[in-house]
Amino acid sequence: MPEFQIAVIEGDGIGVDVTREAVKVVEAAAPLDDARFSWRHFPWGTDYYFQHGRMAAEDYLDQLAPHDALLLGAVGHPDVQDHITLNGLLLPIRRRFDQAICLRPAFLYAGVESPLRDKPPESIDMLVFRENTEGEYANIGGRLYQHSDQDVAVQTSVFTRRGCERIIRAAFEKAMTRPRRSVASITKSNAQGYGMVLWDETFTDVAAEFPDIETESLLIDRAAMEFVRRPESFDVVVASNLFGDILTDLAAIVVGSMGLAASANIAIDRKNLSMFEPVHGSAPDIAGQGIANPLAAILSAAMMLEHLDLPHASEAIHSAVKQLLAAGETMPPDLGGSATTEQIGDRIVQLVLEH
Ligand code: NAD
Ligand code: IPM
Ligand code: MN
Repeated sequence: MPEFQIAVIEGDGIGVDVTREAVKVVEAAAPLDDARFSWRHFPWGTDYYFQHGRMAAEDYLDQLAPHDALLLGAVGHPDVQDHITLNGLLLPIRRRFDQAICLRPAFLYAGVESPLRDKPPESIDMLVFRENTEGEYANIGGRLYQHSDQDVAVQTSVFTRRGCERIIRAAFEKAMTRPRRSVASITKSNAQGYGMVLWDETFTDVAAEFPDIETESLLIDRAAMEFVRRPESFDVVVASNLFGDILTDLAAIVVGSMGLAASANIAIDRKNLSMFEPVHGSAPDIAGQGIANPLAAILSAAMMLEHLDLPHASEAIHSAVKQLLAAGETMPPDLGGSATTEQIGDRIVQLVLEH
């Protein structure tokens, strides 16, 4: 019987509530692949910061390393600047374990209404490949003459041929397995004449190896417009770190809610730790009320199961989510219902057990 040891960082705000439900659902699904899970919870996040002056133990990356995967809720607190909390916990994880591929699906489930008019169920089905280790998030730069009226900040983007190529190649390889076989590249090479031109050149080179794939290249501003005008036309989308970040919040709301947006941060070397987390943040506006939609976290956990090669367990969760949404009975407030976080988790567990 395969046994997996999973690191869990619930983090801040609604991250705590939704991760709890995700763990519960994985426990229910694991027997379908004859798998067993043990969970190691790490108390890191902003509460830890208030006590210890840092977001996590000094050797936190080493402590995480030996696990089979990491399930993360969310990080961020209204009383601490986000660049401190996020650079103290989440972002170094993506870099240390070389989690170069951030996978973010956006699917319009039956039973969920898009804020865009007249979108039939399942008509929107895209998969965003977000570069996850460099680009605009390289965290290179500095401040000069801080706290004076001469204040200067330099923030540098880093684009490498290797970094561009591995995310673009991953997007093409995935597109080959999807019926529509199409990849859209998002760029801004009209204004960013170095990094984004390297991105475009790499895209052209990789595309030449995949003659069966239809391609388009869109400037980010145009892409934002087309995500609203014709979201159903997108299949696989590949974008830099920052563009992928922005477009996946947009894609999430186009298919109904941030509460449904799952994501996987996949280590390029499979021996390294991969991390599974919802796209959304700690949502301070609804934190502590027990009403956050846990489906994004639950679907992220299903992506973890797929990554761990537990296809039946993963599929059972996907189909439970589909069933719950199609029935429209146990719906969270962000989808127009009044079910609590826990009630939704319980219902998904029930549907998984009936699978
Ligand atoms: P957010 O994703 O937390 O919230 C955006 C909006 O969507 C809010 O109105 C929120 O209530 C709603 N929402 C999000 N998730 C929901 C869910 N599961 N159910 C129902 N409604 C949901 O984005 P924000 O407000 O920009 O960020 C809040 C904090 O989270 C900030 O500190 C930010 O830096 C951090 N953040 C962390 C992560 C992460 O840890 N991966 C991701 C994004 C933002
Ligand atoms: C996300 C988040 C993070 C990001 C933030 C919290 C640093 O918005 O995972 O989408 O921008 O990568
Ligand atoms: Mn984001």
